[in-house]
Amino acid sequence: MGDQYARMTANEAAALIKNGDNLGCSGFTPSGSPKAIPMALAERAVIDHLHDRPFQVGLLTGASTGAWLDGALAKADAISFRTPYQTNDELRRRINDGTCRFVDMHLSLLPQFVRYGFLGNIDFAIIEAADVTADGQIVLTSAVGAAPTFCAKADKILIELNRFHPVALRGMHDIFEPKSPPHRRELPIYKASDRIGSPVIQVDPRKIVGIVETNIEDDARPLAPAGELHRKIGQNVAEFLADEIKVGRIPPGFLPIQSGVGETANGILGAVGTHPEIPPFEMYTEVLQDSVIELMRAGNVKFASTCSLSVSSSLLKEIYENLDWYKERIVLRPQEISNNPEAIRRLGTISMNSAIEVDIFGNVNSTHVMGSKMMNGIGGSGDFTRAAYISIFTCPSTAKGGKISTIVPQVSHADHSEHSVQVVATEWGVADLRGRTPAERADLIVNNCAHPEYREELKQYLQLIKGGHTPSTMAAAYAFHVQFLKTGDMRKVEWKKFLA
Ligand code: COA
Repeated sequence: MGDQYARMTANEAAALIKNGDNLGCSGFTPSGSPKAIPMALAERAVIDHLHDRPFQVGLLTGASTGAWLDGALAKADAISFRTPYQTNDELRRRINDGTCRFVDMHLSLLPQFVRYGFLGNIDFAIIEAADVTADGQIVLTSAVGAAPTFCAKADKILIELNRFHPVALRGMHDIFEPKSPPHRRELPIYKASDRIGSPVIQVDPRKIVGIVETNIEDDARPLAPAGELHRKIGQNVAEFLADEIKVGRIPPGFLPIQSGVGETANGILGAVGTHPEIPPFEMYTEVLQDSVIELMRAGNVKFASTCSLSVSSSLLKEIYENLDWYKERIVLRPQEISNNPEAIRRLGTISMNSAIEVDIFGNVNSTHVMGSKMMNGIGGSGDFTRAAYISIFTCPSTAKGGKISTIVPQVSHADHSEHSVQVVATEWGVADLRGRTPAERADLIVNNCAHPEYREELKQYLQLIKGGHTPSTMAAAYAFHVQFLKTGDMRKVEWKKFLA
């Protein structure tokens, strides 16, 4: 490791950052993000605010982060601008009450936006590293995110050298930044395991203004085992994919899978990975959760290309103890590559993401509750859905104890259009929308996916809206939502009241 760099405490590093600075932090999910400097920055913000000194920063990361970063800074009211994705309760509250500006972005596009300056200057890149050499080579930790671009664009770089992560991680990352158009070339990725870049980020060592040594675990927690509901959704997706092999629409060797985050995604992956008619497969995805590592150990997942090891601490320790074995099976890429539509389309990726609500024509809302309140953000779901060979969306058919139908006449916010969404699955079944007209899709989604308690009402709606290529009536399209906002329950909608 380079000895010429200035060693400092987290407080000293935080003191270098000025009110109004834009920070580009490493990490993707809580994995791989800096922890000690953001905590010190949050403490500093609290003190500044007590003395009526303004202190807020713009925060750019790969995706969501954890309690150390988003959590601490949001609690200290120290974030004025945030992009591209988040999952933190306090930050969500501030975004929705308008005190934090949030730009919800496709994750693959973030590095390009930073390179072109659409998101302002990057004053500091704050990067968690497993190692830094005297000539400016940075070995990242459990995620890549947008760290290569932040390092390239930042005026100054602060490193958190986190000893929890072994120096031997060198070799697991594949760092590659495309050139800007018109000089951009094709990505030579023909299978999930192809490596196209360097194991390290190369920076000008003079930009590294300080190193803070730490030893802190990522704060990813183990997910609860999939419950009955998620198991059923998973089985429905697995049966659908097994049938696709039988009819020859998926080759016998299968195709790479992308899978989202959360309990539903974990349950689905578990069901797909252990289905007797689905052969061992590869992943081309942006996050690896515990279920993938378990499937990898069992031989069901052969290789995983990802942006982040979003696994529980105990599993991460296990990976580090058997690093040589995992290095042959996992590559960590920048989000611009893990989520790159060109590679996703070329590989024939099967995407599996979760929805907040789906409408009867197949439009999907992934981000907003009741049309206005931001949940997390679009994340990588758009990158994968639009470019996938088969794009699948899943959700339980109801939310909030049955008071909300996730299958609605019209989505209250649209993230993925009917033109990109190919398959919808709930615990009741699967609607294969490929090659179907809007009216045919509506029949399939209502009959196969909606909760039986809502099917009659949705069928009544279909009767009311006959006519036109995409039958619809603006007066009643939001009847479910309007009624819920008034009464707290979507059931038993009186259509006539809306049409009067
Ligand atoms: N209306 C209101 N609330 C709803 C809802 C609806 N239609 N559907 C779900 N919810 C609520 C649930 O009740 C739950 O609330 P709670 O936490 O208070 O219990 C919450 O939303 C999460 O729902 P859940 O069914 O547990 O979903 P999830 O954890 O699988 O997350 C998304 C679903 C859509 C929020 C999540 O997948 C997401 O943020 N997606 C966008 C990003 C993405 O797809 N990334 C993929 C690439 S990794």
